[in-house]
Amino acid sequence: MKKLNTKFPEDFLWGGATADFQYEGGFNEGGRGILSHDYETAGSNETPRHHTLRNKDGKLITPNSSFILAEDVSNDVEPVFLENEYYPSHQAVDFYHRYKEDIKLMAGVGFNIFRFSVCWSRIFPTGEETEPNEEGLQFYDDVISEMAKYNMEPLITICHDELPMNLVLKYNGWTSRKVIDAYVKYAEVLFKRYGKRCRYWLTFNEINAVRGFGPTGVRKASGKDRYQAAHNMFVASAKAVKLAHRISSDSQVGAMYAMSEQYPATCKPEDIFHHMQARRENWYFVDIMGRGYYPSYAQNLWQRHGFDRLDITLEDTQILKEGQLDYIAFSYYRSNITKAGDAWRNVGGDTNPYLEVTPWGWPIDPLGLRYCMNEIYDRIQKPVFIVENGMGAVDEPDENGYVADDYRIDFLKKHLTAMADAINIDKVPCLGYTMWGPIDLVSLSTGEMKKRYGFVYVDMDDRGKGSLDRTPKKSYTWMKNVIATNGEVLID
Ligand code: BG6
Repeated sequence: MKKLNTKFPEDFLWGGATADFQYEGGFNEGGRGILSHDYETAGSNETPRHHTLRNKDGKLITPNSSFILAEDVSNDVEPVFLENEYYPSHQAVDFYHRYKEDIKLMAGVGFNIFRFSVCWSRIFPTGEETEPNEEGLQFYDDVISEMAKYNMEPLITICHDELPMNLVLKYNGWTSRKVIDAYVKYAEVLFKRYGKRCRYWLTFNEINAVRGFGPTGVRKASGKDRYQAAHNMFVASAKAVKLAHRISSDSQVGAMYAMSEQYPATCKPEDIFHHMQARRENWYFVDIMGRGYYPSYAQNLWQRHGFDRLDITLEDTQILKEGQLDYIAFSYYRSNITKAGDAWRNVGGDTNPYLEVTPWGWPIDPLGLRYCMNEIYDRIQKPVFIVENGMGAVDEPDENGYVADDYRIDFLKKHLTAMADAINIDKVPCLGYTMWGPIDLVSLSTGEMKKRYGFVYVDMDDRGKGSLDRTPKKSYTWMKNVIATNGEVLID
């Protein structure tokens, strides 16, 4: 059998990735303000998560986790915490109090980088203060110092699908340009405080998901509002890139895209053409931020969404040009099928008969990762960085809390091999790989705990009950060997 070269570049960055509201907890500690996710309940694959809000008549309304899709959410809503509801972001898995233990575990597996997101409302509780919350800043300083003990560098996500709740309610999230100013003020504080100890930054997580999920914090929006919100985020990101470069000249700033691969369902020309257009729904975001200008197909795309123009000033155009990303980061979990007549969607579509699926029905497609890396580099010609990948699975610990997760090892092995092929055979420059949720954390889409990605088991159930003790799984030892040999153990 031919052996592939799975050795990675000497300076390859190996790590894990987390998001504050899924991992950190400590929601009412350290002066942290309320975040858009704090009113989001737990759910499951069958029962969507929802927010708990009251309208001005005192009536409870529970829009699903996509604020943006909630037709009945008017300007007069008030968020409420209900006693019989469980809100996963409040405790998450308690990194806030356990960061030393978690960082030690990550160091034990050999990480030289750790991607985490700063909680915006920990730094600016309402987003509108003139001075940042020192206690919040100190928390991340302590985290970075702890990492430094193990020579682990940070990759900081400035905004992971969230907003201080005040900015959601007062300005209808990113539809308002006021939020650009609030973001830039916040980003500047982070660059000044951590810039000497942090080279790699991400301005936004999965920014291309703004149409489907709730990262824009938009309560009610037409198609045009959503794209205007995205434009405002592009401008905010470009301003942040410029600032980061000015404050620390060696900083590298990217943004992160949900780059699930899309395949045409058949070779019928109509399906292929539809696939090209569906793919452009994602490329739109990468092209604008990676190349610094709106692509020629933008207007046609807007028209498909029911509008002709956006509010884009000449100054915005200049900022986008000057604030291009240094690298393109993306999450890769699965591939999808699309065909003529399908509504646009980021994930989903018909079943792919050639692929197996995870327990949550996500198709397992390692080659799709290699495909994506090539596509992005061909198009943008900037290094790529895989900042999320992994398999959500149900783990069954034995009586000692040990999980023999061979299925996860198999998943990771195939994806890392595909990544090595893209690097070594296709010559795609790739900065690193940060696996999603190295220590088990709360699922974004379902709010469940039982959908686990990590190689460290956290003893906690879907309602937040358990000791929260951490126990390395079988994949921990496997991953340790992979990193220690810089990929050589992947060779069959
Ligand atoms: C990405 C997000 O969409 O996928 C993460 O950036 C998320 O926040 C991850 O957790 C996996 O999705 P899920 O729904 O399985 O947690």
